[in-house]
Amino acid sequence: EKGGYDHFMIKEILEQPSTIFDCLRGRLETQNPSIQLSGIDKYKEQFLTGQRIIILACGTSWHAGLVAEYIIEELCRIPVEVEYASEFRYRNPVVHSGDIIVAISQSGETADTIVAIDQAKKNGAIIMGVVNAVGSTIARLSDTGVYTHSGPEIGVASTKAFTGQVTVLILVALKVALEKGTITKERFNQLCIELAGVPDKVQEIFVQNDHINKIAQKYSHLKDALYLGRGYNFPIALEGALKLKEISYIHAEGYPAAEMKHGPIALVDESLLSVFIATKDPYYEKIISNIQEIKARKGMVLAIVSKGDTMISGIADDIIEIPEIDELIAPILNVIPLQLLSYYIGVAKGFDVDKPRNLAKSVTVE
Ligand code: F6R
Repeated sequence: EKGGYDHFMIKEILEQPSTIFDCLRGRLETQNPSIQLSGIDKYKEQFLTGQRIIILACGTSWHAGLVAEYIIEELCRIPVEVEYASEFRYRNPVVHSGDIIVAISQSGETADTIVAIDQAKKNGAIIMGVVNAVGSTIARLSDTGVYTHSGPEIGVASTKAFTGQVTVLILVALKVALEKGTITKERFNQLCIELAGVPDKVQEIFVQNDHINKIAQKYSHLKDALYLGRGYNFPIALEGALKLKEISYIHAEGYPAAEMKHGPIALVDESLLSVFIATKDPYYEKIISNIQEIKARKGMVLAIVSKGDTMISGIADDIIEIPEIDELIAPILNVIPLQLLSYYIGVAKGFDVDKPRNLAKSVTVE
């Protein structure tokens, strides 16, 4: 059932070119670019007139929600709030009739997310599920939804479900933006074509697996790591840090790179690794100066960079290359080496990467 792989986790990481393809199949048309999502068509009016979107989720799914916040606000000009379902349910939140709630869940059975959407529904919100498990509780409770079609995820750490969630949320944002007229047809076409290219580009990253494994061996003794990114890649920093904690039992924290100066930089010495997501985007120059600040304090730096980057390769201790892609879609690619890094470190340390201690695949109790 592991299809010849040592662990479900690596099988599921390597499956991502095909799971992302399945997520796009029948939805994204690139000849004359268009997006079909019946789950949005049903509530088109609400999406076009909605005053705000509230995203509810936990864990890795919450990180997908944060990526979506940046993308939906940019493309659709609708304010988005992203909340931990566990906080939302206990704080008498302000929900208006007509608000759109997007519930993101791989399992569709996370207790806090179920209760949170139940409450929002009672207040008249429309619930859209972004769920992987077909027919699950959250899928059934939702008014409408878009499945991620990532297939069963067995490894406790979420990998392919996350890239499926981000892919679905980009499709939703693009479709709503085109209908609302908050994006030009030209930009829409361009992003559709870039999105269709994602499966091949994920495959291209895997050429570096041995290289990533070597980096993992080098850093397997780590005690602490910082993950730093800006913009669309800030949530990817959070997700990379979560993966490292779960699989390798190494303490890690994700931050927006600019927040470094407001505290975390105090931790930097020769024993701390900073993982930068530093692919080409409008923040590129700023990220370089953040990397220089870490190096000046003798910290170790691993950078995820765009293919062919020569600036950062001269400063960082190690680099992993990502194929060039539009910055809005880059988070899908940038998370892949971070999944691999935690996998290889976990394996190097002899841990049961499919079943990390103290964790359950779906958290059905609060
Ligand atoms: C992390 C992880 C968890 C889940 C979280 C939500 O790798 O697997 O953080 O993402 O428990 O689960 P779902 O998406 O099933 O609601």
